[in-house]
Amino acid sequence: MLTQTQLKQNVAAAAMEFVLPLLTPSTVLGVGTGSTVDLFIDALAPHKHRFRGAVSSSERSSSRMAALGIPVFDLNEVQAMPLYVDGADEVDHELNMIKGGGGALTREKIVASVAERFICIVDESKRVQVLGKFPLPVEVIPMARESVARRLTALGGKPALREGFITDNGCQILDVSGLSIDSPAQFEAELNNIPGVVCCGLFALSGASVVLMSTQQGVRQLTKSSS
Ligand code: 5RP
Repeated sequence: MLTQTQLKQNVAAAAMEFVLPLLTPSTVLGVGTGSTVDLFIDALAPHKHRFRGAVSSSERSSSRMAALGIPVFDLNEVQAMPLYVDGADEVDHELNMIKGGGGALTREKIVASVAERFICIVDESKRVQVLGKFPLPVEVIPMARESVARRLTALGGKPALREGFITDNGCQILDVSGLSIDSPAQFEAELNNIPGVVCCGLFALSGASVVLMSTQQGVRQLTKSSS
């Protein structure tokens, strides 16, 4: 029986196999945040001479890549990005995701929006029928924390402030439990419209292009039609 760490290692290796043939000397990769991505970064480092560098979704990933000698670019310096590789906290059958467990959701959504394809790397514990068991992270402007919390409560959620946590953008996070998200894209749009919400951790208006899912039987490649 593989442990969750071994499953994460396997999917990081599979992501590397997926990415490697697509790298060129001018490629700038999008790289996300989290423990699975950390393993992907480690697998990427020996191949750093095969691509130009990366844009990352967090200070954490930027530091890890810089320490391993992978050039890290500011997103404003980059015109095109073929791939964005990142983990997720939940993935449904339509490849909609909840992300932001590590608090990097806003930068993740920004970098993902620039990439042509989002390659999501998860172990099978992240697969769900309906999104919402994992508390949905919502990044908020601090002065709007309570007004946003009231709106989230009115929508059926139970928001809780992520105590002692400030995002890379200087904002706060409300983790919203008690949700069962039947229409993820519609709900994402609704949350985006609340004044004071910087970003929500639902990735449904633009979900994953491919999910690499590590299972006890090996890594499965899921696309919308196959999942
Ligand atoms: C960070 C994220 C991560 O991708 C998500 O939390 C999964 O993390 P891990 O790979 O550690 O399970 O969205 O904001």
